[in-house]
Amino acid sequence: MPQSSEERSVEPEPAPVAPTDARPAHKVDSLASLSSLGSLSSASSAGYGRQLSQISLSSVLSEYDVTGPGSADSEDESSDSGLELVAPSGQAAPLKRERSEQRVLQTGLEGTEETEQIPEVWEGQKAEKGEVNEEEKEWDDEEKKNDVGVKETIDEKAATAADTEPIQAAPTQSKRQLRQYNQETFEPAPRRVELLVNLAINVLKAVGNVKEYIAPPSNMEAGREDYTPLYRTDDFGGFHARNIFRRWQDCFCNPIDSAATNMVSLMERRFENKLSSRFTLTGESHSYINLGSYNYLGFGGLGPCADQAETATLRYGVGSAAARQEVGTQRLHMQLETLVAEFLGTEDAITFGMGFATNSTNIPSLVGPDCLVISDKMNHASIILGMRLSGAKIRVFAHNDMADLERQLITALTEGRRWRKVMIVVEGVYSMEGSIVLLPDVIRLKKKYGAYLYLDEAHSIGAVGATGRGVVEYYGCDPTDVDIMMGTFTKSFGAAGGYIGGSRALVDHLRAHSHSAAYALAMPPCVVQQVIASMEIILGRDGTDLGRRKIDTLARNSHYFRQRLRQMGFIVYGNDDSPVVPLMSFFVSKTAALYRRLKEHGVATAVIAYPATKLTEARARFCLSASHTRQQLDYVLSVVDKVGDELELKYSQQRPPPAEVVY
Ligand SMILES: Cc1ncc(COP(=O)(O)O)c(C=O)c1O
Repeated sequence: MPQSSEERSVEPEPAPVAPTDARPAHKVDSLASLSSLGSLSSASSAGYGRQLSQISLSSVLSEYDVTGPGSADSEDESSDSGLELVAPSGQAAPLKRERSEQRVLQTGLEGTEETEQIPEVWEGQKAEKGEVNEEEKEWDDEEKKNDVGVKETIDEKAATAADTEPIQAAPTQSKRQLRQYNQETFEPAPRRVELLVNLAINVLKAVGNVKEYIAPPSNMEAGREDYTPLYRTDDFGGFHARNIFRRWQDCFCNPIDSAATNMVSLMERRFENKLSSRFTLTGESHSYINLGSYNYLGFGGLGPCADQAETATLRYGVGSAAARQEVGTQRLHMQLETLVAEFLGTEDAITFGMGFATNSTNIPSLVGPDCLVISDKMNHASIILGMRLSGAKIRVFAHNDMADLERQLITALTEGRRWRKVMIVVEGVYSMEGSIVLLPDVIRLKKKYGAYLYLDEAHSIGAVGATGRGVVEYYGCDPTDVDIMMGTFTKSFGAAGGYIGGSRALVDHLRAHSHSAAYALAMPPCVVQQVIASMEIILGRDGTDLGRRKIDTLARNSHYFRQRLRQMGFIVYGNDDSPVVPLMSFFVSKTAALYRRLKEHGVATAVIAYPATKLTEARARFCLSASHTRQQLDYVLSVVDKVGDELELKYSQQRPPPAEVVY
C-alpha cells in the first residue's frame, strides 16, 4: 500500500537496471527535484469527515468569535481547557484585522498578437488534428453518471443545523465520480484502466516481495556491520525504490548542460554496467524542447536580466557573506523588498535565499504547539515541513474542497480545545494537479471563522493574473485579506529565493524571529538583481510592454496546449488557466514509455509519480512558458498525439472541446 502522504520521500536507491532505449533516457535536472520535492499531500492527524449535521452552525456564528494571542480577552495561553471564545459583545477578534486601504487590481486581459522572438526555434511539424473520441453515447451516459459528483449536493442535515446558511457538502471523493472545481476537471481513469493499473501495481509489488523473500535486501552498511543502519531501507519507500522506481530510474534526475530556457541541453548518460543503477556521463549533450522547467515567463536563462545580474556581481560580489541580521543586508535587498511589497500590494515584504526555506523556516515563526494549521491536502513539502517544525496541530482538508475546509473550521471552533491561532494554508497554483485555489471562498471562510490565511504563490506569482500578480489578482481579491503572502522567485522570475509579504507588523516580526533572516545567508546580490530586473519588466518599468506580452503569451500557450491535448482525447488535470499541465498516464510503465518516446523525439518533460502522487496516478507534466513558440508547441503536440496513440493513452471519456482550438 502506498504510504500516507506525510511519510513520503523519494530516496532513489541504486539497483541494477539496464536502459531500455538505445539512447539512454534523460530528464531535465530541475525536474528531478519536482517529483521528490513536489506537492506532497499534507500531514494529517484528525479526520476531516466529521459530520456537520451535529453542529449548530448558526449558534457558532452568532455567539462566538475566536481570539488570537495578546487579545484583551485572551486568557492564560497555557491553558487548553477550551476554545478561546468571545461573546459578540466582546472586543473585536484580533484574528480579524481591519481592512487597510483597498487596492483594486486590473483583471481584464488585453490580448496581444506578438510573441517573443526566441533565437533557437525547432522546425515545427504540423500537428495532426487530434482524434476525437466518437463514442458520444458513452459520453452522455458517463456525463450523467458524473453529474452526481459534479453538482455539489446540499447536505440536508447540515442545512437544517446551519439554519440560515446551508453548507454545501464536499463533493464525494469517489474515484468513479468526476470532481470539478470552477472549470477544473479531475476526470478519473475509465474503470477498465483503473483495474489494470491496480493490477499492474500489485504485480510489481508481488514480484518485488518474492524477489526480496528469496534474496532479502541487505540492511548492513559496509564497514559498519555492528551499527544500526543509517539509511532506512525497510519501509515502503525503500521497497518502492528497489522494486518500482528502479525500473524507470532513467526518467529522473538527468543533469543538464545549458540554461533552462525553451530549449535545454541534456547530458547523455548510461548505466555503469548491467547490474549497476549508477550512471556515467558519455560526454555528449543534446538539445531538447523544454517543457519541464518552471520558466513560466521565460526570464530563466540568458538575456537582459542575467546581464544585470552580472553587473551586480561585478559590483557586490557573488555571495552576501553574512545573514540578513548581521551585515548581509545590502542596498539591493532593500530595493527588492520595496518592489515586492509594491508588486503584491502589501505594506511590506521580506525576502529569503531559498523558496523551500521560506516556508519551512517561517511557518514555525508564526504558529506553535497550541495552534492549529488547516492545510490543503496537496500542499507542498516545504509547507509540510514548516508545519511539522512548528509543532502546531496539523489537519488536512481535501484538495480545494471548501465544504471540507469549512467543516474543519467548525470543528476547530466547537471541539472544546483552545487554539491560540488557527491558520489556513493553501497554494495559488498546485504544481502536481494544475489546479488553482478557490481563493475568494477561502477568504470568505477565513473571515467567517476568524482564521489567518497563509498563501503560497510559488507557481502563481507572475504566472496568473492579468498583470502577473498571482491568484489575488486573478480573482480580483484584496491582498490585505491574505495575512501571509508567500511566494518564490524560482519560477516566474527565473531566479532563486522566496518572499513573504503582508502587514508591516508581520514583516517586522519575521525580520526579528525568522530563522532564515537570523541564521541563513542573505540572497546573493546577482540573484536579487535578476528578480528586480524581471519584476521591473513585468511592471513595464523597462519602458516596453514586454512583461505584459509575456504574461499574455503564457496564458495563450497554456490554454492552447491544454485544449489541444483534451481535444486529442487525453485526460488532463487542472484549471484551464494553469501553466502546469498534467497529462494522466496512470501506469508507471506507460509513463516511463511516454517520457522515453518524447525524448526520442527531442522533447524533454517531467514525469511525476509516487510519492508525489498516488501509485496509480502517474503522469507526465508539461510546464508551459511564455518563451515557447507556437511552432514548438505544435511540434510537441504532434509528437504527444502520435505517442499517445502508440501507447493507448487517450483515456478521456468526456466530450472534447469544440472543433478548433484557437491559438
Ligand atoms: C508551492 C511551492 N512552495 C515552495 C516551493 C519551494 O520553492 P523553491 O524551489 O524555490 O525552493 C515549491 C517548489 O517548487 C513549491 O512548489
